[in-house]
Amino acid sequence: MQSAARADAANKDTVHENTVHEDDRVIEISKVSTRFGEHVVHSELDLEVRRAEIFALVGGSGSGKSTLLREMILLQRPDSGSIRVLGAELQKLGDEEALALRQRWGVMFQHGGLFGALTVTENVGLPLREHTGLADALIDEIAAWKLAMTGLAPEVGAQYPSELSGGMMKRASLARALALDPELLFLDEPTAGLDPNSASGVDELVRKLRDLFGLTIVMITHDLDLLWQVADRVAVLAEGKVQGIGSMSELSRMDNPAIRQFFDGPRGRAAQEPETRQADAQTDTKNARPSSKPK
Ligand SMILES: Nc1ncnc2c1ncn2[C@@H]1O[C@H](COP(=O)(O)OP(=O)(O)OP(=O)(O)O)[C@@H](O)[C@H]1O
Ligand SMILES: [Mg+2]
Repeated sequence: MQSAARADAANKDTVHENTVHEDDRVIEISKVSTRFGEHVVHSELDLEVRRAEIFALVGGSGSGKSTLLREMILLQRPDSGSIRVLGAELQKLGDEEALALRQRWGVMFQHGGLFGALTVTENVGLPLREHTGLADALIDEIAAWKLAMTGLAPEVGAQYPSELSGGMMKRASLARALALDPELLFLDEPTAGLDPNSASGVDELVRKLRDLFGLTIVMITHDLDLLWQVADRVAVLAEGKVQGIGSMSELSRMDNPAIRQFFDGPRGRAAQEPETRQADAQTDTKNARPSSKPK
């Protein structure tokens, strides 16, 4: 287990240094600036997400992670700069192109975003009802399949969101994000508020989705376990820009003050290499699944 984690970390270091081809860029963000009144959130920010990678955005509270995610999924526009997603320049999209593009990605919102008045099956089937002309019976069948993919028991389909635990809610909302077989998946804090067991289930699930279906995954998280265990590349946002980008072990060796703060701050101990953390966990379990954000 430990040596597997180490081998993974070593692979991550080499894999993403390979040459990146034009087609491999699923998201290209170039010189994006965003401000709210006088408050500058992004200042000519550049970022690139590659096909089939698990990419994480981290940064202190208010550093502009959620805003950037909203800009990537057409919920908000930057003041200037360019964002290309799956080859389409978002600023130049017409309504129909935007509708078509939205069907190629799935989004799991931080608080699930499930409709309380609908059963889990109905929630998962909703994107299919909206975007396909499929018969109800087939939609229910696909919804059941998506629920199974995310590790939920078949009977959960008949339940309402208020009857689910936090972990089940995350899985159900992931199942809905997967309804239309997206190429690209956005996850906002996929493990926040989960107990360590449920959270490590989500870690595995995220990795499986990428490995089995070649999904490109962009996640916002402050969960250091998730970052060490599954993220191929991590971008640290601060002061309107990406301060550094790389695997966790590469970042941990960088000198940039914002990155150092991420690793050396109050949670620094938890952000060590996996093997050190695992040794620590034997004596100090409270560091196993940190829940506070890097400030
Ligand atoms: N609609 C808005 N109007 C005004 N200010 C906003 C708006 N949305 C975001 N902001 C501001 O932009 C900054 C970045 O917000 P954002 O939600 O992107 O941060 P974040 O990195 O996701 O933080 P957190 O980790 O707390 O979720 C914050 O200072 C926030 O107050
Ligand atoms: Mg946020």
